[in-house]
Amino acid sequence: MKVLILGGGGREHALAWKIAHSPIVTQLFCAPGNAGIGQVAKCVDGLDINNGAEVVAFCQRIEVGFVVIGPEAPLAAGVADQLRANGIGVFGPNKAAAQLEASKAFTKEICDACGAPTAAWARFSERDTALAHVRQQGAPIVIKADGLAAGKGVVVAETLAQAETAIEEMFAGAFGSAGAEVVIEEFMDGEEASFFVLTDGRTVLPLPTAQDHKRVGEGDTGPNTGGMGAYSPAPVMTTEMQKRALEEIIHPVITEMARRGMRYQGVLYAGLMIDANGPRLVEINARFGDPECQPLMMRLKSDLLPALMACDGNTLPEITLEWSEEPAITVVMAAKGYPGSYDKGDTIEGLDAAEQVDGVKIFHAGTRTGPGGIEAAGGRVLNITASGKDISEARERAYEAVDLIDWPGGFVRRDIAWRVLS
Ligand code: AMP
Ligand code: GLY
Repeated sequence: MKVLILGGGGREHALAWKIAHSPIVTQLFCAPGNAGIGQVAKCVDGLDINNGAEVVAFCQRIEVGFVVIGPEAPLAAGVADQLRANGIGVFGPNKAAAQLEASKAFTKEICDACGAPTAAWARFSERDTALAHVRQQGAPIVIKADGLAAGKGVVVAETLAQAETAIEEMFAGAFGSAGAEVVIEEFMDGEEASFFVLTDGRTVLPLPTAQDHKRVGEGDTGPNTGGMGAYSPAPVMTTEMQKRALEEIIHPVITEMARRGMRYQGVLYAGLMIDANGPRLVEINARFGDPECQPLMMRLKSDLLPALMACDGNTLPEITLEWSEEPAITVVMAAKGYPGSYDKGDTIEGLDAAEQVDGVKIFHAGTRTGPGGIEAAGGRVLNITASGKDISEARERAYEAVDLIDWPGGFVRRDIAWRVLS
């Protein structure tokens, strides 16, 4: 079967690397892909991956039988709906179900309807009522643009002044239509973890736990990013905590979605805040986490593709996945300046030597092939991923590989997985 992956980041490279090994696959395509993905799949240029009609036409022309949607934008645009309507298999929820990521207020309503624990919240479509609300609540408080804002639409305000500025900016259009509605939430303290399940809308197959580092700076300081590193497993997600997250959050949400006629098929990514009282939902994403997907794929021993295909049908109860006991870690190499502005076009050397380090696999995020070799072409550029007998060996291997990469324009956080090792 021919398979198409949509997306071109480190998550998609990790998915492509696993799927390329599947005996079911005759040919693997990825749109748009990147320089690393090009080593395991045929990259497709010029396809608008958020345009369902274009994606369907491409699949019909090339006879693609299954599409794996990596990022949220095509899900929110209804690309999965159009593929399903045309009889093409797809991994990823329909537009209505993807509202769990595309609208923060929608997710909060679902939580309230099914009793899933989450932060107290209120929604506002007018600046003045939002300002009055934060003045009444005080800080710390969390201000969120309702819609998709590429991970940038959340401000954890430590002071009232920060909260007011965030509200002013969102209503002034800082996030375009995504900020036309604003959700204001109680600040939750605790430790964050990412919990992923595959689901067909009824059955749930939990994946091993993972945790990412969202802040750009060491010690988890500075602005939020898409994620500067990740590791799996996440010790904070004990067996008991996983059981509680499934019973109190995941199953109720999936059941409530089905009850509303919005069957959720794909991966459900629950961002959780863990404290002494148990797990609370921070957010839901309708896709794999990036970079959490990378250590997960590193640990997966089974063929991924049948599990993804099962989410699109009714065979998920028959699927079991085998995972390596060895932990894995991903260190993100980003362009200096990220998550602000940064340069593109630097040539990166030393990748081959870095990948020779035991247990290391390098997934590409923002790269392209230039005249001099592999070039940086994004904010997050490389994902140095390593496994080891324990997390400390995995981490040593990852940083040994990082140090073999010659790219003066790049930087890493040196403390990925510090919570596990401290
Ligand atoms: P989100 O895009 O909703 O995941 O928010 C991005 C990040 O903001 C989360 O990963 C948390 O670190 C933080 N965050 C979001 N909501 C809250 C909250 N209610 N309390 C504390 N931190 C939050
Ligand atoms: N690593 C966080 C995300 O993918 O949203």
